[in-house]
Amino acid sequence: MRTVFCFGLLALALGTVGLDFANAAVAQPGGSATAQSRRDAVRETTRRAWQAYVNYAEGYDELQPLTGSGINKVVVTAIDSLDTLWMMDLKREFKQAVDMVRGVNFQRVSGDMSFFETGIRVLGGLLSAYELSGEPVLLTKATEIGNILIKAFDTPTGLPVARVNARGPVADSVNVVLAEIGSNQLEFAKLSEFTGNATYQEKSVRVFDILSRVRTREAGLIPVHLNAQTGQLNGDYITFGALGDSYYEYLLKYAILTGQRDGLAGRMYTTAINSMKLSLVVNSSSRPDRYFLAARSNGNLEPTMQHLTCFAPGMLSLGSQFLGDNDDFVVAQRLMQSCIAFYRESQTGLGPEAVRFDYGDSASALDTDSLDLSQSASLARNGYVVSSPSYILRPETIESLMYLYRKTGDTIYQDHGWDAYQAIEKHTRTNLAYSSIKDVNSNNDKDNHRNDMPSFFLAETLKYLYLLFSDSKFYPLNEYVFNTEAHPFRIQKRM
Ligand SMILES: *[C@@H]1O[C@H](CO)[C@@H](O)[C@H](O)[C@H]1NC(C)=O
Ligand SMILES: *[C@@H]1O[C@H](CO)[C@@H](O)[C@H](O)[C@H]1NC(C)=O
Repeated sequence: MRTVFCFGLLALALGTVGLDFANAAVAQPGGSATAQSRRDAVRETTRRAWQAYVNYAEGYDELQPLTGSGINKVVVTAIDSLDTLWMMDLKREFKQAVDMVRGVNFQRVSGDMSFFETGIRVLGGLLSAYELSGEPVLLTKATEIGNILIKAFDTPTGLPVARVNARGPVADSVNVVLAEIGSNQLEFAKLSEFTGNATYQEKSVRVFDILSRVRTREAGLIPVHLNAQTGQLNGDYITFGALGDSYYEYLLKYAILTGQRDGLAGRMYTTAINSMKLSLVVNSSSRPDRYFLAARSNGNLEPTMQHLTCFAPGMLSLGSQFLGDNDDFVVAQRLMQSCIAFYRESQTGLGPEAVRFDYGDSASALDTDSLDLSQSASLARNGYVVSSPSYILRPETIESLMYLYRKTGDTIYQDHGWDAYQAIEKHTRTNLAYSSIKDVNSNNDKDNHRNDMPSFFLAETLKYLYLLFSDSKFYPLNEYVFNTEAHPFRIQKRM
């Protein structure tokens, strides 16, 4: 799950210290001449977006790409970009980012921090860049923020609360969501590895133990709302979209990180995916060849799918590679086709935030009477209508293309990624940088921009494009596992 990052204020003093990375070994991306020229284009886009951030929003969390101003006061974009810059061999820019991190003092953050967003972006970004570059200040800062975040687990159940600050857990944030409590185990495992202090990993992995004992309607599918104080479930909403998504992703990736195919996390993943395939993967009534990953509420199917949910084909592909289930890969390919279609069938070539499709006559079926002419045409032709038309520079479809390309070697996935990249250049580029857009079906680029450039554009979207156009031996999937913000961690123990 990714919401807009909100961090609170931090006093910041930027220092510059000379660093010399010139001699550090950098992996070579390889690949065909076509792939190489595509990769060079992505690298140039990255350099441009980074430069705009440095020029107009240095010291802030994110750039506002229309007005050229910054929001908030922590260098989230810099931290989130570190490993992308490193992997693309943008050394000068990497050094700029490290210098910004040097000036951050997490103890002096005055507002509350989101446990989840800070964990995946800040802790994850620092640890991954530390592992790649060996730059000591990155581990110092990671430990500093890790020691604040770990206080979230100080509850009667051991489930972490949603917000923390330098003084401890925020008392009124005990209503938590599945993706938030279940997507920090990779980061804390790595922090334990680098510091030699096992406490981080133990506290974080206990969440999986607790969740393994929750009784659910369908094995392994856990409702997304919980209370961290009492451990009680609130409601019965099940989804692989926002609020649920990265919990399932982390079950798999924790198994991969620790090399335990048959450990608790791996077994929980397999159980959940088997239930998912039985009850949430459905085809549209008007386009039966098209498959969707739906949500479920009180036992009723909700015929919706979000852009966020398009991470699932990649997860299923990765899972089939490591746990060896070919049926999962068939489902991955089916869902991938729909995610590609969301892009190809829009006016801009970019995928919308969410769609609704028609499915049987379930209680929550799409109300076809309320559709206008073009929506009815879209439903008949494509099997879905756009229900939320924005594109906020999200990575998930490109991320999945990368995993399917890595598994199959089929360059069709690179071609789809290249189409998406060109659409990003054409429709999201502003005079300064790149922006979210309001409507993927708009013909009017001029009025379509929003004044934001989320940090995951640099952390994930551009990195996954770069990986998609690189050889499979470049940051290979049997050596690295990517956290849910695309920060690579070296696998601890190979399966
Ligand atoms: C390990 O980390 C925890 C959490 O920050 C801390 O309370 C504990 O003192 C640390 N242990 C050692 C030996 O440093
Ligand atoms: C669509 O789903 C139905 C019900 O599961 C199934 O019988 C049918 O074969 C599917 N159609 C296609 C084209 O896959």
